[in-house]
Amino acid sequence: MIKNLEIYTSEIANFKTDNLEELNQFRLKFLGKKGILIELFNKIKEIPPEERKQFGQDINILKSAVLDKVETLKTDIESKQHSRHSTLDVSRSANYMTLGSRHPISVVMKQLCDTFKKIGYTISEGPDIEDDWYNFESLNFTEDHPARDMQDTFFIDEKTLLRTHTSPVQIRVMETHKPPLHIICPGRVFRNEAITARAHCIFHQIELLCVDQNVSFADMRQTLDYFVKETFGPNRKTRLRPSYFPFTEPSAEMDISCDICNGKGCNICKYTGWVEILGCGMVDPNVLENVGIDPHIYSGFAIGIGVERLTQQLYKTKDIRLFFENDIRFLQQFESM
Ligand code: DAH
Repeated sequence: MIKNLEIYTSEIANFKTDNLEELNQFRLKFLGKKGILIELFNKIKEIPPEERKQFGQDINILKSAVLDKVETLKTDIESKQHSRHSTLDVSRSANYMTLGSRHPISVVMKQLCDTFKKIGYTISEGPDIEDDWYNFESLNFTEDHPARDMQDTFFIDEKTLLRTHTSPVQIRVMETHKPPLHIICPGRVFRNEAITARAHCIFHQIELLCVDQNVSFADMRQTLDYFVKETFGPNRKTRLRPSYFPFTEPSAEMDISCDICNGKGCNICKYTGWVEILGCGMVDPNVLENVGIDPHIYSGFAIGIGVERLTQQLYKTKDIRLFFENDIRFLQQFESM
């Protein structure tokens, strides 16, 4: 008898149908006047008295299982039928889906990468978390260089840090590839700086590296001119100032005239009418030696573009913080890009 109960229990559990008639047959088989449950209840008197209580409980459980099953399948079948028969209103206007937009920084990064791709550069990327060798040492930073100061760098431990610039990617590429090299490295960088309208602790750079035989400062100048014309049009004023970076010699910085105040002076250009958008220079021979490239045979130039500053000028964005707040009202203005 107990064996029968087990068989019935599994029959109920496994029963499936999407047909109401079949479901009714199933219900009658168990719950009908001549059904299995009545039959089982009638058998109670044949059970030895000490097992009766247990047997009674078991058939009650079986009964609830049948009732549950019937109820669940009925609801399923009816809801499927309902959705099949519900009428389709073809005249109803489509649901309006708001499209996302690309972030202005992503738009400009892509634009700049495309500009350099046109003259043969390919993209290389490196990690956000770097070590001392790639971020500083290999790039000719002496041990006590001010840029290593805790104020500028987010250290993870003594030797591990969030990269402060994309220049380490130059080293990673030169270590693993032989010249000629023409690469651009877009990416995020991190500096422990106060957040203001013109500076942020996270920003983006695009690094460019060209290494080949007979590469000269004039080649760099040509590349810069091409890039400025492609990005800002033929009439934007620029100036190249001598500067210093440990990994380039000679080094320079390029400024463009500030479009936010038309050169009159504002907080974005620190009231000078000029905004620095990149650092550049001829790759220092020490750097080439650090990665096993012979500086007597090869020379190169490198450029590091600050993407936020440049984007700020392209779209006359008065506050750099807008790029990081993800305020929909700001981002929606770039929907068509
Ligand atoms: N890595 C420098 C910085 O973040 C920018 C830079 C300057 C990159 C000169 C270069 C370069 O490739 O040649 O301040």
